[in-house]
Amino acid sequence: MSKTILITGANGLLGQHLTQLLTSQNTYNVIATGRGGDRLKEEGYKYLTMDITDEKMVRDVLQNTQPSIIFHCAAISKVENCEDDHDEAVRQNVTATQTLLQVGKENGLEHFIYLSTDFVFDGEKGLYEEDDQRNPPNFYGQTKLMSEDLLLKEKEIKIAIVRTCLVYGQVKDMSRTNIMTWVKDKLSKGEAIKVVNDQYRTPTYAGDLANGCALIAAQGVEGIFHISGKDYLTPYAIALQVAEYLNLSVSNILPVTASTFVEHGRRPLKTGFTNNKAYDILNYQPISFYDGMRKVLGGDMNR
Ligand SMILES: NC(=O)c1ccc[n+]([C@@H]2O[C@H](COP(=O)([O-])OP(=O)(O)OC[C@H]3O[C@@H](n4cnc5c(N)ncnc54)[C@H](OP(=O)(O)O)[C@@H]3O)[C@@H](O)[C@H]2O)c1
Repeated sequence: MSKTILITGANGLLGQHLTQLLTSQNTYNVIATGRGGDRLKEEGYKYLTMDITDEKMVRDVLQNTQPSIIFHCAAISKVENCEDDHDEAVRQNVTATQTLLQVGKENGLEHFIYLSTDFVFDGEKGLYEEDDQRNPPNFYGQTKLMSEDLLLKEKEIKIAIVRTCLVYGQVKDMSRTNIMTWVKDKLSKGEAIKVVNDQYRTPTYAGDLANGCALIAAQGVEGIFHISGKDYLTPYAIALQVAEYLNLSVSNILPVTASTFVEHGRRPLKTGFTNNKAYDILNYQPISFYDGMRKVLGGDMNR
């Protein structure tokens, strides 16, 4: 009998890509869960409404579905929202993780795969490895560190922690902007844009991240994995690539330092990952930023 995989936050950017990928693999019973109704609206999986902060709802769903594997993607992922309400950020990003783990274990869970962030690092070093020192620069990163810590204490079932970085991709029915569509929109209207040129990331195509997550489940591996794209870029370099690809004038893109903007929740300057562990152990193979950009701007959701 196929194993059951349950995804939290299935309406989100990663959640939608993961639901599609796991469904297409035909290996698992896929249970996609999210707040409210199903926004992906495709065939081949079962969608259930589950607010991860509602313990009764979590109990009902996990008792009824008995997942062997949980991908915990749901979170408050906006830095500003976590800064504004620390208690709510802890409730959503930490307490709910604890509840899912506990209730999952009571219902036969074998493997818990948790989505964490490059924002657990302070941004002084860049191209981080899994065992580098964590030092979150904002409360969002702090909540992710707290969940990592509680999961790393778990001894009864397999735990994998996936840290990722600046995820981009297509998402259905979600009012969400990304740097590519923002650059396209502004430059096509002839507007000038100021873009940061001293922050570094390894932007991650959501389809690649979903692939990396699926490899972790298929191989049943434990531990921390950094899974991102392979190009080390500043937002300014990204904006230039987008403009050139769309034949828009680059003269309206003005490079500035991050200190030009007032931040609500400090962003780390240099993050990004080498992905070496994921390359070696998982045989993870991300596409280039250029290819990811083509998928997003071309509207192609197929991987
Ligand atoms: N995107 C990035 O650049 C990035 C970078 C590093 C790490 N991550 C982490 O990767 C994971 C996936 O990120 P993403 O980009 O897919 O985020 P996303 O698009 O914001 O999706 C998160 C999903 O979680 C859902 N959610 C939030 N609170 C919930 C609750 N109480 N109950 C049920 N669902 C809830 C949201 O529901 P609604 O749609 O209803 O709001 C949303 O659909 C997150 O854990 C994030 O912290 C993301």
